[in-house]
Amino acid sequence: MRLLIINGPNLNNIGKREPNFYGNISFKEYFNKNLTSIPGFELSSIHTHKESEIVNILHESDNNYDGIILNAGAYTHTSVAIRDAITAISVPVVLVHISNVYAREIFRNKNLIAPVCKGIITGFGLQSYKIAILSFLD
Ligand code: DQA
Repeated sequence: MRLLIINGPNLNNIGKREPNFYGNISFKEYFNKNLTSIPGFELSSIHTHKESEIVNILHESDNNYDGIILNAGAYTHTSVAIRDAITAISVPVVLVHISNVYAREIFRNKNLIAPVCKGIITGFGLQSYKIAILSFLD
Protein backbone atom coordinates (compact mmCIF):
# COMPACT_ATOMS: atom_id res chain seq x y z
CA MET A 1 0.00 0.00 0.00
CA ARG A 2 1.38 3.37 -1.04
CA LEU A 3 0.95 6.18 1.49
CA LEU A 4 2.13 9.78 1.39
CA ILE A 5 2.78 11.71 4.60
CA ILE A 6 2.40 15.47 4.21
CA ASN A 7 3.81 17.65 6.98
CA GLY A 8 2.84 21.32 7.05
CA PRO A 9 4.35 24.44 8.61
CA ASN A 10 6.86 24.22 11.46
CA LEU A 11 6.90 20.44 11.45
CA ASN A 12 10.46 20.40 10.10
CA ASN A 13 11.80 21.31 13.53
CA ILE A 14 10.04 18.74 15.67
CA GLY A 15 12.58 17.58 18.25
CA LYS A 16 13.65 21.15 19.00
CA ARG A 17 10.33 22.96 19.02
CA GLU A 18 8.26 22.90 22.26
CA PRO A 19 9.42 19.43 23.36
CA ASN A 20 6.68 19.32 26.01
CA PHE A 21 4.18 19.04 23.12
CA TYR A 22 6.22 17.48 20.34
CA GLY A 23 8.94 15.39 22.02
CA ASN A 24 12.71 15.29 21.54
CA ILE A 25 13.27 13.53 18.26
CA SER A 26 12.90 14.84 14.74
CA PHE A 27 10.24 13.56 12.35
CA LYS A 28 12.98 12.37 9.98
CA GLU A 29 14.62 10.27 12.71
CA TYR A 30 11.27 8.82 13.80
CA PHE A 31 10.30 8.16 10.16
CA ASN A 32 13.54 6.30 9.38
CA LYS A 33 13.61 4.30 12.63
CA ASN A 34 9.96 3.49 13.19
CA LEU A 35 7.88 3.91 10.07
CA THR A 36 9.83 2.73 7.04
CA SER A 37 10.04 -0.82 8.42
CA ILE A 38 6.28 -1.33 8.83
CA PRO A 39 5.54 -4.29 6.54
CA GLY A 40 3.07 -3.84 3.71
CA PHE A 41 3.55 -0.11 3.26
CA GLU A 42 5.55 1.95 0.82
CA LEU A 43 5.89 5.35 2.47
CA SER A 44 6.93 8.74 1.16
CA SER A 45 7.02 11.96 3.13
CA ILE A 46 7.11 15.59 2.18
CA HIS A 47 7.32 18.82 4.16
CA THR A 48 6.31 22.35 3.26
CA HIS A 49 5.54 25.55 5.12
CA LYS A 50 3.27 26.72 2.29
CA GLU A 51 -0.50 26.34 2.24
CA SER A 52 -0.68 26.52 -1.59
CA GLU A 53 1.92 23.76 -1.89
CA ILE A 54 -0.17 21.50 0.37
CA VAL A 55 -3.13 22.14 -1.96
CA ASN A 56 -0.97 21.26 -4.99
CA ILE A 57 0.43 18.12 -3.38
CA LEU A 58 -3.08 16.94 -2.47
CA HIS A 59 -4.28 17.45 -6.06
CA GLU A 60 -1.25 15.65 -7.48
CA SER A 61 -1.62 12.78 -5.02
CA ASP A 62 -5.01 11.73 -6.30
CA ASN A 63 -4.75 8.34 -8.04
CA ASN A 64 -1.04 8.07 -7.16
CA TYR A 65 -1.45 6.89 -3.56
CA ASP A 66 -3.77 4.63 -1.61
CA GLY A 67 -3.90 7.10 1.24
CA ILE A 68 -2.62 10.39 2.58
CA ILE A 69 -1.56 11.12 6.14
CA LEU A 70 -1.73 14.85 6.68
CA ASN A 71 -0.44 16.97 9.53
CA ALA A 72 -1.44 20.43 8.35
CA GLY A 73 0.03 22.09 11.46
CA ALA A 74 -1.50 25.48 12.18
CA TYR A 75 -3.39 25.47 8.84
CA THR A 76 -5.65 22.86 10.40
CA HIS A 77 -7.34 25.64 12.31
CA THR A 78 -7.61 28.16 9.47
CA SER A 79 -7.47 26.68 5.98
CA VAL A 80 -10.62 26.45 3.90
CA ALA A 81 -8.31 25.94 0.88
CA ILE A 82 -6.82 22.71 2.26
CA ARG A 83 -10.26 21.51 3.31
CA ASP A 84 -11.61 22.15 -0.20
CA ALA A 85 -8.62 20.36 -1.78
CA ILE A 86 -9.40 17.25 0.29
CA THR A 87 -13.04 17.26 -0.79
CA ALA A 88 -11.89 17.52 -4.43
CA ILE A 89 -9.85 14.30 -4.40
CA SER A 90 -10.87 10.69 -3.91
CA VAL A 91 -7.83 9.35 -2.05
CA PRO A 92 -8.64 8.97 1.68
CA VAL A 93 -6.90 11.42 4.03
CA VAL A 94 -6.18 10.71 7.70
CA LEU A 95 -5.45 13.81 9.75
CA VAL A 96 -2.67 13.53 12.33
CA HIS A 97 -1.60 15.73 15.21
CA ILE A 98 1.38 15.01 17.42
CA SER A 99 -0.10 16.91 20.35
CA ASN A 100 -3.65 16.61 21.64
CA VAL A 101 -5.10 19.72 20.02
CA TYR A 102 -8.20 19.48 22.24
CA ALA A 103 -6.11 19.76 25.41
CA ARG A 104 -4.40 23.00 24.37
CA GLU A 105 -5.43 26.57 23.56
CA ILE A 106 -9.08 27.04 22.66
CA PHE A 107 -8.23 28.19 19.10
CA ARG A 108 -6.82 24.71 18.41
CA ASN A 109 -10.27 23.21 19.13
CA LYS A 110 -11.43 24.61 15.82
CA ASN A 111 -10.52 22.07 13.19
CA LEU A 112 -11.55 22.91 9.62
CA ILE A 113 -9.89 19.83 8.13
CA ALA A 114 -11.13 16.97 10.37
CA PRO A 115 -14.74 16.84 9.07
CA VAL A 116 -13.58 16.05 5.52
CA CYS A 117 -11.03 13.40 6.53
CA LYS A 118 -11.48 9.66 6.91
CA GLY A 119 -10.36 9.98 10.52
CA ILE A 120 -8.20 11.92 12.94
CA ILE A 121 -5.42 10.80 15.30
CA THR A 122 -4.33 13.38 17.85
CA GLY A 123 -2.17 13.39 20.95
CA PHE A 124 0.01 10.28 20.72
CA GLY A 125 3.26 12.09 20.00
CA LEU A 126 5.06 10.95 16.86
CA GLN A 127 3.33 7.60 17.34
CA SER A 128 0.21 9.33 15.93
CA TYR A 129 1.79 8.79 12.48
CA LYS A 130 2.24 5.06 13.12
CA ILE A 131 -1.35 4.69 14.30
CA ALA A 132 -2.51 6.56 11.20
CA ILE A 133 -0.51 4.22 8.94
CA LEU A 134 -1.91 1.13 10.67
CA SER A 135 -5.44 2.52 10.26
CA PHE A 136 -5.09 1.72 6.55
CA LEU A 137 -4.89 -2.01 7.31
CA ASP A 138 -8.18 -3.82 6.79
C1 DQA B 1 0.07 20.23 15.38
C2 DQA B 1 -0.94 21.01 16.21
C3 DQA B 1 -1.18 22.39 15.63
O1 DQA B 1 -2.12 23.10 16.45
C4 DQA B 1 0.10 23.18 15.60
O2 DQA B 1 -0.10 24.44 15.00
C5 DQA B 1 1.20 22.44 14.94
C6 DQA B 1 1.37 21.02 15.22
C7 DQA B 1 0.42 18.87 16.02
O3 DQA B 1 0.96 18.03 15.31
O4 DQA B 1 0.19 18.67 17.22
O5 DQA B 1 2.01 23.01 14.23
O6 DQA B 1 -0.48 19.99 14.10
